[in-house]
Amino acid sequence: MKIISVVGARPNFMKVAPIHFAIEKFNQLQTPGLPNSITHKICHTGQHYDEKMSKVFFEELKLPKPDYYLGAGSGSHAEQTGKIIIEFEKVLLTEKPDLVIVVGDVNSTIACSLTAVKLGIKVAHVEAGLRSFDRTMPEEINRILTDTISDFLFVTEQSGIDNLKREGIADEKVYFVGHVMIDSLARYLPLAEKSEILRQAQFNINHDEGYILVTMHRPSNVDYPKKLKELIAMLNRLAEKKKVIFPVHPRTKKNLDRFGLSGSISKNLLITDPIGYIDFIALTKNAELILTDSGGIQEESTWLGIQCVTLRTTTERPVTIETGTNYLAGDDFKKAESIALSILNGKRKEGKIPVLWDGQAAERIVKILVNSKL
Ligand code: UD1
Repeated sequence: MKIISVVGARPNFMKVAPIHFAIEKFNQLQTPGLPNSITHKICHTGQHYDEKMSKVFFEELKLPKPDYYLGAGSGSHAEQTGKIIIEFEKVLLTEKPDLVIVVGDVNSTIACSLTAVKLGIKVAHVEAGLRSFDRTMPEEINRILTDTISDFLFVTEQSGIDNLKREGIADEKVYFVGHVMIDSLARYLPLAEKSEILRQAQFNINHDEGYILVTMHRPSNVDYPKKLKELIAMLNRLAEKKKVIFPVHPRTKKNLDRFGLSGSISKNLLITDPIGYIDFIALTKNAELILTDSGGIQEESTWLGIQCVTLRTTTERPVTIETGTNYLAGDDFKKAESIALSILNGKRKEGKIPVLWDGQAAERIVKILVNSKL
């Protein structure tokens, strides 16, 4: 069996890594050369290309260098998606795989699943069924379209099963397997525990001091001058209570500069470049509180039992609210600030780890693929 997995943007790398390792493990148990073993290739679309958004992840996750690099880079959604489709088709025509694995909800996910399906190649979507019910989010469109055309839909939480059922996807395509991103988190946590990041001069934070970790990159939060200004003002106020660590995504960085806000950052609001995977886990695990608009961080904080305030009106990951330690603050920064302050004052949510988030999702996926009639 030949499989090509697609990675494109930062949140994809830690999802494909455990699948790659589970395939390697499966192959080690097979007789070499017999048809049972799996040839696994990795295609990087190049949607994220900065060293700190991409290369460092391959190194830290110990993922082999991608077999293909498509160099799609930035551009409008149409340009980015279009370039990936054109280049990925060439890869598929050369490789003729039995299956393409796509993860998450980025433009690379829909571009590559669409290309594969049009060539009659089966598609597995890992992290299927999540819905924010907000079609102004590009990721929601990517999720719905990818799920509609996939042959295997690997789901992380019950809401995913319910959503796919409601959309009329056949039950036999849907598999509740847990979460590959949590596989990586569990695997790399021991390394993160040795991270020295908090002692670096730029932070210089003691373990008992406590700090707030912030990530923000959604267009709705960072693409409008008024919104971004309000965000920075709120973070400046919170930074009077606790140091705030804010690793800044390239989209947010560009806008801070463009809107002339880079000069209005207070001393305790510690702005940094994007941070590598292992150090970022360390920052997450040790934070007193996280403010984010990311999808994955809502889940990682739930697994680690860290209080998380999500600055969005919807979440496609409701299990983090219902079972985990996540709060949905909406797009009103005043509300987010008041939740953050009450957490800092000791009002904490006791969370539980969601069902099947046990570090074994990738092994379940490989088992299902091997037992299928691919
Ligand atoms: C993308 C995903 C989003 C995911 C996020 C994680 C889509 C539609 N969005 O959003 O779901 O949560 O990645 O990071 O696929 N840029 C750089 N260097 C890089 C990458 C991007 O400078 O390595 C710049 C681009 O030029 C662009 C901006 O950052 O101006 C946004 O990049 P883009 O890939 O379009 O979307 P993200 O906001 O990163």
